Amino acid sequence: MRRESCQVYSIFGHGRSSSEVQKEERLPSFLRNEQAHLECSSWWRWALRLLPVFSCAAAFAIGAHYLTSPPSSMFFLGCSVEFPNLSFSEQLANYSSEQFRMQALALKPYFSELYKSSPWSSYYLRSGIVAFSEGTEGLNVFYWSLFSAPDHVAMAIRRSSPDWLQRRFSGNDKVLRDGRREQHYYLEQDDVTLHLLGLVPDDWEEKSDKFKNPNSLLSGKWQLGFQAVSFDLYAKHGMNRSLILLSPKKPYYQWRLRVPSGHAVRLVVLSLHGGAAPGSCSAYKLSAYDFLLPLQNKVIARLCGLPEPQDSLPAMRLTSSGNVMLLTFSIGRQREGAVFKAYFHAVPKAGCGGSLSSWNGSISSPYHPAHYPPNIDCRWTLRAPLPGYSISVTVVTLDIQRSSDGCEKDWLDVGGVKMCNQVSDGGRKRVYSSPLSIHFHSDESVTHRGFFLRYHAISPLGPSCRPGEVLCSNGQCKAQCGICADSGEDGGCRSKCYHTCGNKACLPKSSMCDGVVDCKDRSDEMNCTRAYLKGCTASSYKCANGKCVSKLNPECDGVRDCLDGSDELRCSCGVRPRRRPKIVGGMEASPGSWPWQVSLQMERYGHVCGATLLAARWLVSAAHCFQDSDAIKYSDPRAWRAYMGMRSMAAGKSASAAAARPVRRIVPHPDYDRQTSDYDIALVELGAPVFFNELVQPACAPAPSHTFAIGTGCFVTGWGVLTEDGELASRLQEASVRIINRKTCNDLYDDAVTPRMLCAGNLQGGVDACQGDSGGPLVCQERGRRWFLAGIVSWGEGCARQNRPGVYTKVVKFADWIHRQTRGQV
Ligand code: ARG
Repeated sequence: MRRESCQVYSIFGHGRSSSEVQKEERLPSFLRNEQAHLECSSWWRWALRLLPVFSCAAAFAIGAHYLTSPPSSMFFLGCSVEFPNLSFSEQLANYSSEQFRMQALALKPYFSELYKSSPWSSYYLRSGIVAFSEGTEGLNVFYWSLFSAPDHVAMAIRRSSPDWLQRRFSGNDKVLRDGRREQHYYLEQDDVTLHLLGLVPDDWEEKSDKFKNPNSLLSGKWQLGFQAVSFDLYAKHGMNRSLILLSPKKPYYQWRLRVPSGHAVRLVVLSLHGGAAPGSCSAYKLSAYDFLLPLQNKVIARLCGLPEPQDSLPAMRLTSSGNVMLLTFSIGRQREGAVFKAYFHAVPKAGCGGSLSSWNGSISSPYHPAHYPPNIDCRWTLRAPLPGYSISVTVVTLDIQRSSDGCEKDWLDVGGVKMCNQVSDGGRKRVYSSPLSIHFHSDESVTHRGFFLRYHAISPLGPSCRPGEVLCSNGQCKAQCGICADSGEDGGCRSKCYHTCGNKACLPKSSMCDGVVDCKDRSDEMNCTRAYLKGCTASSYKCANGKCVSKLNPECDGVRDCLDGSDELRCSCGVRPRRRPKIVGGMEASPGSWPWQVSLQMERYGHVCGATLLAARWLVSAAHCFQDSDAIKYSDPRAWRAYMGMRSMAAGKSASAAAARPVRRIVPHPDYDRQTSDYDIALVELGAPVFFNELVQPACAPAPSHTFAIGTGCFVTGWGVLTEDGELASRLQEASVRIINRKTCNDLYDDAVTPRMLCAGNLQGGVDACQGDSGGPLVCQERGRRWFLAGIVSWGEGCARQNRPGVYTKVVKFADWIHRQTRGQV
């Protein structure tokens, strides 16, 4: 098994020497072959992804170079290799010991053969050993290799993947053949690197103007020579070794730290400050590397002073992934008061991950709260001890390397959701189903303190509910019988049984005909005689004459409840003239079955969002559909067209629509909040009214008092993508989802569900809206068999994931706003 990698960069500016011309002509045969295969003309698109094609990229670069002879660069690789048949001794840690010199001499043949069969052999100049350390099987050697190559080659090597540089070694020498675990990395270009490598400048004196000019590299560095002050230290198991620097006199210091194999280096920084200029990185800088060479991609941490000591946070503690660590200290100007104090010791390599099954416990990143090591992957599987239990996880602290574009560097993945944003105030609680997978990943550089989380199994029958509460099977406590989101409930409802709902839930007498739906089938509010209330409450239905009725959702149910009959006026909505008996189980909607569904399209992009037809001139959709991006002005009504009664998307936009209208005006809710998705609603006024027919019908807009009971089965429809990263549907899709109670949803979503939102879905996952469904309808059928708009597709974590229901804008909260904005047309 080989792990090999090389990092490259050019140290010097441009300049061409005659020897380079010859080098170009001696193009390695390997590369010439590749040139013949330049059909892979789109190499650059693949270069970052595919290794075999990568060689093509390099070859292309060289091919072009062939014709134009561009300038050349010198660059270094920083490398390591292990020789299993050699062994480490403490003397070998000492750069100036006789043993070091002898061993380096013995390895000379290795370096002369080093790149012989590599495509870069003709650019290779020489190598130098920097350090030895104890390998897992033998002796680990750290060295640099110097190359001089045309810029394009240098770039190709720089960008190439480690494996690409794998040497096909052909020599006979046993020592050479035995080199293992080779790693090659590009060495970054900066003054510090050269100083730390202690390179004598004779190699480049000729070639580099930079070095001829004493004002460039040496200026500001006191011109004290090239070499950094180096210390080589070894700590046996159980031994602490200290590093102390008081008022440093030189610009660069480095400590190569080693511990026995099978251990990691633990560095504890006790104090670090730079005299006159506290905390400024231009004054001084301490860097820790997970390698014995100063490689940029192996930086574990960079410190310019320590954070204020806090009781809760112990001193800064860093850990390497292997048994070596390089520490470098560079200082801008001599500072009398500069101080660096630390010590290091060997810690056994921490294992991580595993299978856990307990009622509660905690998990943390390796060595927490010390920094986790680079380059690790830990995987845990949490299982609730008994079937049917869920797992509640609270991420108490999370401090890991963040990346600007998603969690690409280091991350914590809990149940399929990656996190990398700081959590420090002890709270990110979510409920997951068992078994739960947790994965912690750190890349090869930059580490932080990591994470700490607690978990406990949530019991379906546990003792945790307060007296009088009902415990639902998802572990939630509910104040009433009949309102579990997931139908499974007990909690003594049976004994108080006055009325039995269709699903066997039991209700006390006081819950009957009280204007609140308790049964999922609404049987508790169904056959109630209407009653006039003396005073109106916030939840009662208000007739046009200002009087209230206590009946739940009296609008358009076919019964005149208001004395003035206003509850049955304006009821030409929510019917499906085309509806046929539903075809078996399928998800594809039969044509015309959701006649209020609208597709909002943009000239250049086709379908973008869904919407719901509420009146001849008015649609309602989501505010987030109309937020401008850098490139696209979604807020411009002229960019949009609305398609009603659309059958198939694929058959050409308008061809299959019963009606298309331009958009006159878009009215996003003024309180819409991009960050939280609160108030995610927008009204869309059409340029001309549409005519209703069997394919085009409005949905009923609910009154402000309308209640969509928890557990009610409703439908969400749209042309959104069929899987999280799939394509838009070409035929309208429908999905049956249940309304979920807000508390449950807030537990699942970290309290992100505001009172203007409504959750619906299936906690088991598998059914949901997704990208492209936004703005579209969530409708529920009411007593009068009419369909009312309960929600507008707004957001969700992924799509159709377990315990991540869809979140909708709660339309009843906007009933008055809609009425006002449409000047009573809705
Ligand atoms: N924001 C999405 C859109 O623009 C809709 C997301 C709905 N997600 C969900 N899981 N229900 O189309």
